[in-house]
Amino acid sequence: MSIHVASVTAPVNIATLKYWGKRDKQLNLPTNSSISVTLSQDDLRALTSVAASPTFTADRLWLNGKEEATVSNERTQACLSELRKLRQELEGKDTKLPKLSQWNLHIVSENNFPTAAGLASSAAGFAALVAAIAKLYKLEQSMSDLSRIARQGSGSACRSLFGGFVAWEMGEKQDGSDSQAVQVSTLDQWPNMKAAILVVSQAKKDTSSTTGMQLTVKTSDLFKERVAHVVPKRFIEMKGAINAKDFEKFAELTMKDSNSFHATCLDSFPPIFYMNDTSKKIIKLCHLINEFYKETIVAYTFDAGPNAVLYYLEENEGKLFAFVYHLFNKVEGWEKKYSQDQLNQFSSLFED
Ligand code: ADP
Ligand code: DP6
Ligand code: CO
Repeated sequence: MSIHVASVTAPVNIATLKYWGKRDKQLNLPTNSSISVTLSQDDLRALTSVAASPTFTADRLWLNGKEEATVSNERTQACLSELRKLRQELEGKDTKLPKLSQWNLHIVSENNFPTAAGLASSAAGFAALVAAIAKLYKLEQSMSDLSRIARQGSGSACRSLFGGFVAWEMGEKQDGSDSQAVQVSTLDQWPNMKAAILVVSQAKKDTSSTTGMQLTVKTSDLFKERVAHVVPKRFIEMKGAINAKDFEKFAELTMKDSNSFHATCLDSFPPIFYMNDTSKKIIKLCHLINEFYKETIVAYTFDAGPNAVLYYLEENEGKLFAFVYHLFNKVEGWEKKYSQDQLNQFSSLFED
């Protein structure tokens, strides 16, 4: 029996300028360009292994130890058939290659963080799926080429194939051939940029991103304004802030965009609520922290779920976490770093 296997990991990426809305559902083409930061492979990631064998009778997918029916959905099959086509081209050029393109695949994936909880599991998941199969098939395509395939699995996945700061350019063509991810900047160029994830809930969301954005496109008037006038300008400004390493500007744009996206969710009909009371408390906390230090220390962003991602500069970690621990998890001794006067000020910030 002949069996070929490959494994990869792909990290999560968290958008600072949100993708929300499809102009073409089949090809997963977005209504606007977006920007994200890809986290380190050592943090939140999907680990995916694929096996191809002539003895497999169907494509099958196991996610976090449970077999999923999603392998037969259109989006996953779109990724598989594009990858098979590319493998077939290689097999045509070199007839000695095993005919992997004709064999079924078994795919096993595991996320080391909550799935479908607004922490971009579909991004890491489809990026890993496409990268693992490309490795198995020994494809020679560029990352941008692969990003166009991953995009068809889940839009946000196209950005997880690159590290650092990544833009997904919406493109203009109807066939999606120019709707792909490109790297804006490596993390090495802004090495003190850090992200913290505050897990508010591990629960699976009740409205998937796909369903949520379809409803927003169909019913929200605010969404039309966002897409036409807000995002195009912000896309240019955010790339500028990243290249200039202007944290204050980057943070302002990131927070505003998270709020704008959640406002379009609320403006959908019936409304979609991804954030909960704890999420809102975190938003308040971040603004209080920035006010307290009279400097922008932290930016929050929330995807389609209640969990928070905070962006901050490494040198401000102590300043930020003093507050976070104070509010959510009083770690013994944290207060020793602060004067009584400062502690009084912290406390007074949380009084209504
Ligand atoms: P999230 O906010 O976590 O991205 P989505 O609603 O966008 O939530 O997508 C969640 C879906 O993505 C899951 O129900 C599953 O179908 C798919 N998914 C998540 N992780 C993986 C993975 N590692 N491999 C394949 N598919 C995955
Ligand atoms: C709020 O990429 O999960 O996280 O393309 O339908 O799979 P599908 O949606 P998905 O949507 C992500 C929405 C977001 C913002 C973002 O990541 O840009
Ligand atoms: Co998703």
